[in-house]
Amino acid sequence: MAADEMAKDKQFPQAEPDSGTPQQPRRVITRRDFLVQGNAGAVAVGVMAGTGFAASLVQPAVAAPQAAQTAAAADPVTMRQVSLDIDGKQHDVTVDVRESLWETMNYKLGLSNSNLGCDRAQCGACTVLVDGRAVTGCSVLTARNGRGQKILTVAGISNGPGFRGLHPVQRAFWLEGGFQCGICTRGFVMSAYALLQTNQNPTNAEIKEALDGNICRCGEYPKILTAVQKAAAEMRGEKVSYSAPLIYAEQAAEAAAPVEGAVSRQFVFVNPLGTIEVYDDLSLELQQLSGIVDVSGTERTITPVWDPARLDEAAVRRALSELGHAVR
Ligand code: FES
Ligand code: FES
Repeated sequence: MAADEMAKDKQFPQAEPDSGTPQQPRRVITRRDFLVQGNAGAVAVGVMAGTGFAASLVQPAVAAPQAAQTAAAADPVTMRQVSLDIDGKQHDVTVDVRESLWETMNYKLGLSNSNLGCDRAQCGACTVLVDGRAVTGCSVLTARNGRGQKILTVAGISNGPGFRGLHPVQRAFWLEGGFQCGICTRGFVMSAYALLQTNQNPTNAEIKEALDGNICRCGEYPKILTAVQKAAAEMRGEKVSYSAPLIYAEQAAEAAAPVEGAVSRQFVFVNPLGTIEVYDDLSLELQQLSGIVDVSGTERTITPVWDPARLDEAAVRRALSELGHAVR
């Protein structure tokens, strides 16, 4: 058999188009589309396609042409106005009903208070609390959390600025070294925080059960367990000694103490950075600049703090531009 005939032979048979029947529009939708459309009463057939999940949506035949037109245009039926209470602050925002809480917080509100790992409720990196319950922000829909629910992130549990303001759970994770890459840490902190709100004397088994939705790919579980135990002890009012000497933390806090009259300004990148690692490198480079006191930010924004006696805003902007990341 000739090579081209063999190749043809291996192809899956193609369905013969039925000239009498108009072609039904097929639309690939995401996992969330699938769930939402399913709720709306559409008949959906899910198929596994490669590594991703796709679904062929089969609309009732009579509604198909109309549905295709509607899908092509922006569908306001899927939009909702919600008011989110995040860390005690109100955020009024219009969201798509298929949007996850993590997406809204990061893409619409610019809040990078939780990390994204698996984006499918398996790793816990995106954990936040809703009315005191730990939930995975990647898989709860924003539209269902805008009716007065209290959403709490890792940025909302500290008691004040700097090291001294950290919540005992945050301080314990830091001083016990319960992290390496840190992708999972915010999620673990929030799950531990949720546990310690109701049980300040947990056994190891209870901690493991409370944290069983969180995965640490760096394998820091023993230190995480110790951190939660020490945080619990501190919350019970006991005197706690940490693996890292407190003096180190105090010195680090001193080093990070704000310079008198320091100026801070948030800039938005003209072109958002590809990954948080790009931000990390940029932040380190910027900190080499004499007069820069501190830098924080995300893939979309950067907030340098500088000593006005040695730098001004124009110099900071120029430095960022020379590092290849101009800001607005
Ligand atoms: S990112 Fe949400 S659970 Fe993994
Ligand atoms: S510290 Fe890296 S995944 Fe937990």
